[in-house]
Amino acid sequence: MATDRPEIEIRGLHKSFGDNHVLRGIDLEIGRGEVVCVIGPSGSGKSTLLRCVNLLEEPNEGQVFVGGTEVTDLDVDIDAVRRRIGMVFQQFNLFPHVNVTENLTLPQRRVLRRDKAQAAAVARENLARVGLADKADAYPAQLSGGQQQRVAIARALSMGPAVMLFDEPTSALDPELVGDVLSVMRLLAAEGMTMMVVTHEMSFAREVADRVVFMDEGMIVEQGPAAQVVGDPQHERTRNFLNRILDPAAAAAPVAGSQDRLRKSVDEPSEE
Ligand SMILES: Nc1ncnc2c1ncn2[C@@H]1O[C@H](COP(=O)(O)OP(=O)(O)O)[C@@H](O)[C@H]1O
Ligand SMILES: [Mg+2]
Repeated sequence: MATDRPEIEIRGLHKSFGDNHVLRGIDLEIGRGEVVCVIGPSGSGKSTLLRCVNLLEEPNEGQVFVGGTEVTDLDVDIDAVRRRIGMVFQQFNLFPHVNVTENLTLPQRRVLRRDKAQAAAVARENLARVGLADKADAYPAQLSGGQQQRVAIARALSMGPAVMLFDEPTSALDPELVGDVLSVMRLLAAEGMTMMVVTHEMSFAREVADRVVFMDEGMIVEQGPAAQVVGDPQHERTRNFLNRILDPAAAAAPVAGSQDRLRKSVDEPSEE
């Protein structure tokens, strides 16, 4: 397998649900260690795109390669592919009835066949990585949303993924809890993790993303460095979208904290 290929390659991807043609020809490459933020209106197909990368959705047309392996090949060992890919959702999906350590060790034992001690050691290491070493024995309900999301990230990391997919990981959080989750993601990016992040956190995108991809109606409208796509969008649809998320008066139910963060990020002069 060639090692110089992009970690993620998406070619000519189409996905329909019945008559709803959701992805209309997506081509995207993400290099090893690259952080790509995907932005776009609700319903534009961002989640579907992520879900096609690890085959939670089966594309109708096109190819997806992860680590040089075609995941859309009918003969692929999909479990092996999924082991390379960690996914973090808006809803944390922790098991409520077991503690944090068990949330991290159960998938390792079941999927990776690690023994209890091995799995616990990996869990400890990753809880420390997300700043929650002291929560090993807590139950999810005893944690804040931000802490639960960091546990979900630690759980994904415990599987040793080469790629991390994030689907609006901070959207369900109270504004004051968003920062800790973004800090963990920033750390992962700095460690060289390949990341594909669907987010509306423009300050994160500007600071961390190597590239921002704007999607609308199942297509990539434009992509480039964050300062360019967010700071100087070339397409009217991108400008309209950014205006909508950046203008509190135009948003239906603005969250004060996130609007402030967004506005701040866009007003800040580019450092490039
Ligand atoms: N499992 C599904 N079954 C049917 N329609 C779906 C399914 N998942 C997504 N869709 C539809 O696909 C479109 C894009 O959804 P989605 O990928 O979730 O967009 P986004 O994440 O950008 O908001 C929407 O019209 C949505 O209703
Ligand atoms: Mg979505």
